[in-house]
Amino acid sequence: MTELRSVSTEMIGLLEGARYQFARTMADCPHSYTHQRMWNGEDHAVGRERGWTDEEGQAAFERVCAEMRPLMQQRFFDDPRKTEEVGWFNWYFDMNGYRYFNIGPPAPGWTLINRAPRQYRTAFAGDPQTYDDLFGQPPLAGRIKAFYAHAAPAGRVLDVGCGTGRTVDYCWKTLAADPGLYTGIDPSPGALGWLALKHPAFRERLIRTTLEEYETAERHDVIVMANVGPEEVAPGYPLDEKLRSLLAPGGRAVIWNGDAPREIRA
Ligand SMILES: C[S@@+](CC[C@H](N)C(=O)[O-])C[C@H]1O[C@@H](n2cnc3c(N)ncnc32)[C@H](O)[C@@H]1O
Repeated sequence: MTELRSVSTEMIGLLEGARYQFARTMADCPHSYTHQRMWNGEDHAVGRERGWTDEEGQAAFERVCAEMRPLMQQRFFDDPRKTEEVGWFNWYFDMNGYRYFNIGPPAPGWTLINRAPRQYRTAFAGDPQTYDDLFGQPPLAGRIKAFYAHAAPAGRVLDVGCGTGRTVDYCWKTLAADPGLYTGIDPSPGALGWLALKHPAFRERLIRTTLEEYETAERHDVIVMANVGPEEVAPGYPLDEKLRSLLAPGGRAVIWNGDAPREIRA
């Protein structure tokens, strides 16, 4: 991927505000679905807020399908338990930790959108405590402390690859004053779970996604991206462009991989 994809904020809100029902007849491929008829003024969060009529709900569903269709790619469902040869072939679109998919090719007249938690493979996912133990030792701990003193995250903070939550550990005093201003994104459920156990006040502020698949209408004053190596981001991905797109006017992103921090301005 070399160009930033463009996703409307309306589509983010509509896909995330929908009600999803677990597909109990397909327990071997655990996923949920939203049906067009569930897009109404009761079941859909946006519908409730706006007082949708049934026609408005149906039209919103169709708008989302139309926007999603050209963004979808055909691929095997990436279930790590299955080899490439036996996976399900689907049309899919990945956003904010979920894979939205449909078995047939994208076509007008869809009535169903499926989704399943996206499966990522990340280091330390199964043992986040060991990560904290390993990197909490001197001399690394001193360098980490110096980095956070320099980055000084404040205001609306986005922590890219927040991992086990060292940004919150080291900047707790500032961030805990209003956890609602903090957003941590990371594809690792293990790391996020550990962060939430250490800092329950931040639980609601964590999103399980990669940076590449993160879509939001929010803009941030400071973005911290610490120790997320270039190899962890998709090859050729326009990293600086994506970070800049997430900054509020006057904001800055601070990227650190152990050497001198690099800064990007809005
Ligand atoms: C070495 S840890 C750093 C965690 C934390 N920032 C710190 O300094 O302790 C790297 C983190 O990046 C996450 N990560 C990997 N690929 C990512 C991606 N594409 N977007 C965002 N985070 C990613 C991993 O799950 C992991 O938690």
